[in-house]
Amino acid sequence: MKNEVLILAIESSCDETSCAVSINDKILANVTATQAIHASYGGVVPELASRAHQIHILPVVHEALKQAGINKNAIHAVAFTQGPGLLGSLLVGGSFAKSFAQALQLPLLAVNHMQAHVLAHFIRHSNNQQMPQFPFLCLTVSGGHTQIVLVKDYLQMEVIGQTLDDAAGEAFDKAAKFLGLPYPGGPLVDKYASEGIAKYNFALPQVADLNFSFSGLKTGFLNFINKKLQAQPDFIELERNHICASIQQAIITMLMQKLSQATLQYNINQIAIAGGVSANKGLRKTLQDHTQKGWHVYIPPFEYCTDNAAMIAIAGYYQYLQHKFVGYDAVSMPRFAF
Ligand code: KG4
Ligand code: ZN
Repeated sequence: MKNEVLILAIESSCDETSCAVSINDKILANVTATQAIHASYGGVVPELASRAHQIHILPVVHEALKQAGINKNAIHAVAFTQGPGLLGSLLVGGSFAKSFAQALQLPLLAVNHMQAHVLAHFIRHSNNQQMPQFPFLCLTVSGGHTQIVLVKDYLQMEVIGQTLDDAAGEAFDKAAKFLGLPYPGGPLVDKYASEGIAKYNFALPQVADLNFSFSGLKTGFLNFINKKLQAQPDFIELERNHICASIQQAIITMLMQKLSQATLQYNINQIAIAGGVSANKGLRKTLQDHTQKGWHVYIPPFEYCTDNAAMIAIAGYYQYLQHKFVGYDAVSMPRFAF
């Protein structure tokens, strides 16, 4: 068992309480409790999120160890999300991880959530799996972040472009909210879009360099909906699929413009996507279509796209190999940049 590293990993940065158990780069268990409580509020309520994490954390850890068939005494290290994220949420997972590690006198690995989204590509889940080759570009698109990351090595990454305001997932969720859809609306927009045609055009804000801005699109979309509703009160019901296809297309176009620009600027054709929005079927298809242009595209399995502890485990594993441990007094970092 000499070269085997068993890690227990905890993710609690937003509204998913997740625990994974890994052996080297393979995942033995990945258990996630989703917090349904936020749906009726139209967004994540931080105080409710941290309380729900407190309720879920123990059962989730128990279940992960059970599914993995691993006794807690066999674990070699504990990894946890140090940030970025909601402070109250991070504190629950962080405190649990620190107590667990200290009680068993195990080394502790503090993981950056955004780096972990990128490293989800290195979770070994099948024998003939293709993994990105360094250096590659990763478009990380989630509810809180939109970044283009230049990945030079497992733990060497540089953000070369990011959103100046809303994240891509937020743009999906806010558009969905205007259409009366529950939170998080991204998956629903995706679902309705697949039945519609992108027949409405929206002005796409232009930002310098490789950065993004989605707030102008959000305002333009709201104005468009309000204007249409004045003329036709049942506009949303009648046109829902086409509206969803149109806003989805606008978001994808904005993402692809900057990603294409980055591939040219850095002369890299290894392209990965990560984060919750990478579950979007339209975005996946658009990326796959780019393989004809010579791109090598890497898309993680769905369960590793949205927030999960498996990605924290794999990030922890590579930090373990480089002996990047922290003390039991490590603090949560809501604005943890890298
Ligand atoms: O990475 P993630 O699970 O959590 C954050 O770190 O934010 O991403 C959640 C975001 C939400 O905004 C959600 O609406 C969006 O990912 N999302 C999608 C889809 N699935 C999840 N957006 C568009 N299409 C989807 N299929
Ligand atoms: Zn995330």
